[in-house]
Amino acid sequence: MLDPKVKELINTQINQELYSAYLYLDFANYYYDEGLDGFANWYDIQAQEERDHAMLMRTYLQNNGERVTLDAVAKPDQTFNSPEDPLKAGLEHEIYVTSLINTIYKAAQDVNDFRTMQCFDWFVKEQGEEEKNADDLIKKYQLFGHDPKGLYALNQELLTRTYAAPSLVL
Ligand SMILES: [Fe+2]
Ligand SMILES: [Fe+2]
Repeated sequence: MLDPKVKELINTQINQELYSAYLYLDFANYYYDEGLDGFANWYDIQAQEERDHAMLMRTYLQNNGERVTLDAVAKPDQTFNSPEDPLKAGLEHEIYVTSLINTIYKAAQDVNDFRTMQCFDWFVKEQGEEEKNADDLIKKYQLFGHDPKGLYALNQELLTRTYAAPSLVL
C-alpha cells in the first residue's frame, strides 16, 4: 500500500500522461495537415511514449495494491500558425510535466516512501531527456526550418524516428 497522497498524485499523473499523448497526437495531426509527415511521425511516437508512461504508472499502482481511477482526458485546444509553434508548446508542456513529476517525488520523499522514489528516479531522468529532445527540435527548426531545403531535410530526418519500448520494466 502507498501513502494516500502519493497514490492520489500518481493516479492524477496517469491522466496527465494520457493528456500528453493526446496533445502530441494533436501536434501530429497539425503536421500531417501541413504535409510534414516526418514531424508528424516524431510526435506520433512521442504520443506512444506518453501512453507508455501512463501504463507504467498504472502498473506501479496496481503492483502496490492500489485501485486506479480513470478521469476524463482534456481536449487539446491550441491553434498553430507555424511549424515552430507545436515545438515550443511541446517544450513548455514538458517543463510543466517535470514539475508534476518533481511534486510526486517530493511527496514520496516527505513520507520516506523509498519505493516510489526509486520507481520515479526513472521518470525524473526521463523528463531530463524529454526537455532536451524538445529543446533540440526547436534549435534544429530555428537553424534549418526557414529554408525549404533545410525544412525538407529536417522532415526526412524526423521520419526516421522509430518507437522503442521504455527501459523501465515493472
Ligand atoms: Fe510522460
Ligand atoms: Fe513527455
